Amino acid sequence: MADAGNGRLEVNGERLLARLDQFAAIGATPKGGVNRQALTVLDRQARQLLANLGRARGFSIYQDPIANLFVRREGLDPNLPPLLIGSHLDSQPSGGRFDGALGTLCAFEVLETLQDHGIETERTVEVVAFTNEEGCRFAPGCMGSMAFSQKSIPQAWQSAKATDGALFADELAQTLADLQGAAMRPLGFPISAYLEVHIEQGPSLEKEGLPIGIVTGIQGTRWLQVTISGQTAHAGTTALSYRKDPMRAAVSSLNVLYDDIMPKDPQSRLTVGRFSLEPGAINAIPASVTFSLDIRHPNSEQLELIEARIRKVLQDHAAENGCDLAVNQLFDMAPARFPDALVSVLKNAATTANFAYKSMVSGAFHDALFINRVAPSAMIFTPCRDGLSHNEAEYVKPVHCIAGAQMLLASSLILVGG
Ligand code: GLV
Ligand code: MN
Ligand code: MN
Ligand code: MN
Repeated sequence: MADAGNGRLEVNGERLLARLDQFAAIGATPKGGVNRQALTVLDRQARQLLANLGRARGFSIYQDPIANLFVRREGLDPNLPPLLIGSHLDSQPSGGRFDGALGTLCAFEVLETLQDHGIETERTVEVVAFTNEEGCRFAPGCMGSMAFSQKSIPQAWQSAKATDGALFADELAQTLADLQGAAMRPLGFPISAYLEVHIEQGPSLEKEGLPIGIVTGIQGTRWLQVTISGQTAHAGTTALSYRKDPMRAAVSSLNVLYDDIMPKDPQSRLTVGRFSLEPGAINAIPASVTFSLDIRHPNSEQLELIEARIRKVLQDHAAENGCDLAVNQLFDMAPARFPDALVSVLKNAATTANFAYKSMVSGAFHDALFINRVAPSAMIFTPCRDGLSHNEAEYVKPVHCIAGAQMLLASSLILVGG
């Protein structure tokens, strides 16, 4: 077995970095980031590139009905369910080069390294690129991993409209049709385990000077879409007592919530990422305002209490302003805890490979949260500069990208019997 002279199989770091550059060029933004949102032409290009690279190395390429893409390297025992490794290739609208792509390409690097050295594994290893992890073009997020874990695609998703007006059902059909030469397979086949490398998307590893985080779980997320409806009327002639102004209700309720939720519970998160007014005329009181709320907490009960508090504050402020309130829950992702046994495999791999690490809970959600419902799953985090992600300036040092791939290789070898 070829190695670096110390008995240890090594990934090809240069190749991994070149692949990261190659994928970052698809949807590259002028500020050095990536805009490659789910099921767009650019997302399809990235999927095709991964499929082509896989085919060139002699791997088989599959997709499933939600357009999850699989690159499969056969093991010796066809009766063993495969080990799945990967992440996603879609990005935020002003996303970085590493969120998703790093994990997908570390996984592909593991497959290529096994191939380079002719390593025969008992178990098949498959790389996956899950569809629409981000959820920013079509809600909810993690559609690919959710459908995989449920073995079905919820009917309601078909009519989901993108922020750019496109229909989910059309974009999915086109994405499936565009991928050349991939065999179709059913949703949710048996797997032995799932491992995902990802950037931390927060500052703690960098601050503590650690190359690796071993993720023991993921905090919960809920997404709400709020519409407050009032009455549109003339901006110049309508006195305060005649107004049913949904903007006033939105601003006053959000002020209360901003002061209430995060300052009182440092583990909680509250974000308004989207806000729109109808009809959007400079000289008319809006008829309605619609905004999104992203709420997170590591504890399910707290998440429930936060949502209840939000609904009450919104209701009170809407009523005070003579407005109506509609709250639509778009996404409810309970916190996940990864199995101790698999987390221990990662810790052993880190110790053997000499990587300093810490155990941590993920603040961002990931496909591993859903796959953990059907098979043991766990994650490896790498540091990122200033903890910045969902931002074009997102940056991971080359040495940390390579450490992520090396950790994934070492952990995978323990699980597949290489
Ligand atoms: C997904 O990327 C999220 O955690 O928002
Ligand atoms: Mn991601
Ligand atoms: Mn993301
Ligand atoms: Mn994510």
